[in-house]
Amino acid sequence: MSRMTSHPAAALNGEARVPSDKSMSHRALMFGAIAEGVTRITDLLEAGDVMSTATALRAFGVSIEREGAEWVVRGGAWSDPERALDLGNAGTGVRLLMGLISGRGHPATFVGDPSLMRRPMGRVLDPLAEMGLEFESHDGRLPVTIKPSALKGIDYELPMASAQVKSAVLLAGLSASDTVTVFEPVPVRDHTERMLKAFGADLTVEPHQGGNLITLKPGATLKAPGLLAIPADPSSAAFPMVAASIVEGSSVRLPEVMLNPLRTGIIKALRAMGASIEELDRRTIGGEDVADLRVTASALKAIHVPPADVPDMIDEIPVLAVAAAFAEGTSRFDGLHELTVKESDRLAATARLLTAAGVTCRTGDDWLEIEGGQQPQGGGTVDTDHDHRIGMATLVMGLATKEPMHVTGADAIATSFPSFRSLMNDLGAKIDAS
Ligand code: S3P
Repeated sequence: MSRMTSHPAAALNGEARVPSDKSMSHRALMFGAIAEGVTRITDLLEAGDVMSTATALRAFGVSIEREGAEWVVRGGAWSDPERALDLGNAGTGVRLLMGLISGRGHPATFVGDPSLMRRPMGRVLDPLAEMGLEFESHDGRLPVTIKPSALKGIDYELPMASAQVKSAVLLAGLSASDTVTVFEPVPVRDHTERMLKAFGADLTVEPHQGGNLITLKPGATLKAPGLLAIPADPSSAAFPMVAASIVEGSSVRLPEVMLNPLRTGIIKALRAMGASIEELDRRTIGGEDVADLRVTASALKAIHVPPADVPDMIDEIPVLAVAAAFAEGTSRFDGLHELTVKESDRLAATARLLTAAGVTCRTGDDWLEIEGGQQPQGGGTVDTDHDHRIGMATLVMGLATKEPMHVTGADAIATSFPSFRSLMNDLGAKIDAS
């Protein structure tokens, strides 16, 4: 079981481009796989989750190769996979792929690592079944076997704020006989919509009852766009962002961070706590706004996060909780139910990590309270339970506690951020591996 330890650090300084966006990388491979022509991608995220998606697509006969600095995807003739597809830890990979393949006539069985095997798949299978999908599942969990099915359209209202569910329905809609509409009462990350449009899908998004109504008409042939570039992942940037905010004297520059407005909740929340985060050189990459972020250490104050603010920072709550441990006052986060079905039960895991660092916290069904203000003692050990973000949040905590923090199961970090330790150490952190 791989172990990492982070030691109290002097100031973090310098510049580091965090790895590319995971959500966009999965989608770029999948859309390239069904598009006409050759899709060329630069700065694809080369991490466990995205490589699991690439391996699964290759099992359908799709060619995905790295050629120099580019990843090249050639769709062409799809075939039936010969064995079960192991998506590892990748929730986005498996849920979007189930939608993508469901109307394409290729039977496939999906499995994953112990974390993915326990995650709910019914949220995707239910609307797909309504569209006509035939499948077998293990009580709404993996293994799931998709059978060749003829799909019809659907008018679907998202029952939970999930971009994976929205995307699975839209991707199934590409091979349905008629129009698919998805109503999202609460807007969630829209990379699928943006990238599908760039590939030529017939898709519109209109504001509707405070949310969005997305309409996808089948029939359009997706075509490889020009070179597709993937900017840096704001969810990965969140770790050095919080680290630089809480380690005295720090000032780091994080180039090319994607600033899709549905992903910037962490920046807004940290700023509301008093963090200093400047956006420099705003530009567009891969159809998304990006900027270099300059983050300078500052005194933080407590925050109240209402349920409406959670979807835009759904993956950043554990590391925001670390920031709250250093903020003056009691912070409270509400509306956290979706955290319980992530790579681990992240609500419980976040409470465990705070407690292991000696921080007083209270938690309920879907809320968390954190008493901040004192420098936490640290000294504890946290197991990732196959959850990369719990590992990284714990290591960020250990940079500013009195004693080091230890992580077991640290290999999970490679699912999204394989260079985490070296990148943080280059900025001045002291994270050891053993
Ligand atoms: C993702 C959507 C979110 C997020 C995940 C990536 C995506 O999951 O937590 O890391 O790329 O669509 P949910 O759809 O479960 O909220």
